[in-house]
Amino acid sequence: MNTRYIQKAYKVLRNEGIHGLGARLLRHSRPSRRNDDFDLKHGVSTDGDIPLWKLAIDSRNWTDGVFYRPVAIDQFNRAMSHLPITPSDYVFIDLGCGKGRALILAAQHGFKCIIGVEFSHELCDIARANFKQVRPDMGALIACQDAREFVFPDAPAVVFMYDPFGAETMAFTIPKVKPDSYIVYVNPKHAKVIPFELMCSDEGLAVYHVSSPTPRIYAARRSAGRFASRVTRL
Ligand SMILES: C[S@@+](CC[C@H](N)C(=O)[O-])C[C@H]1O[C@@H](n2cnc3c(N)ncnc32)[C@H](O)[C@@H]1O
Repeated sequence: MNTRYIQKAYKVLRNEGIHGLGARLLRHSRPSRRNDDFDLKHGVSTDGDIPLWKLAIDSRNWTDGVFYRPVAIDQFNRAMSHLPITPSDYVFIDLGCGKGRALILAAQHGFKCIIGVEFSHELCDIARANFKQVRPDMGALIACQDAREFVFPDAPAVVFMYDPFGAETMAFTIPKVKPDSYIVYVNPKHAKVIPFELMCSDEGLAVYHVSSPTPRIYAARRSAGRFASRVTRL
């Protein structure tokens, strides 16, 4: 059996227990909610599931990543309907953009600046080709890197995530989202590590507003400060 497969199974077992591992295996065995019409209509290839152990990924953090599965179109549209914004005023960022389906949908919703972050080179190439196929008139930036290393642009953004990674990566990455942004989290399994104000939650969906550092962040900073002053006094 592939060692990457065993590495991943071990990590899931350690973090989520036997029930978590069972749930993941079950999820893999079910076909994704197919949206072949989208691919046929646009002449792209976004459908299908790909486990990460099958992809060549440089990042050591890959075991915390979730396999590729494209977002369902109705779910994406429902998520967008919760945002009280004019899309053209915001940058759209998909953390874990895979083959770029959400990027194409975001362009259709009117976002003018589109960024995808994805750590599989193979999926990045597919996302670029897919986006170009649908919107040759418009550039999308596909940053081929671990989301942990992504530097968020200094502009209000809609940060989209379709269950891309585990709590570790989430806790490291999300506090860096810039103020005045929104976070749209589909299948929000690790919502408890998101330190921002929950605006609404709908079936399988959570939307957050990033206004300024929240009391939870201040509390963490205060206790970090107390810890630092104790260390200095020693
Ligand atoms: C469930 S898929 C979501 C695909 C896409 N966002 C969509 O909605 O169609 C999760 C994606 O996140 C990527 N991913 C997981 N961890 C990542 C990380 N740390 N940095 C960048 N991409 C990551 C995976 O390679 C996979 O393509």
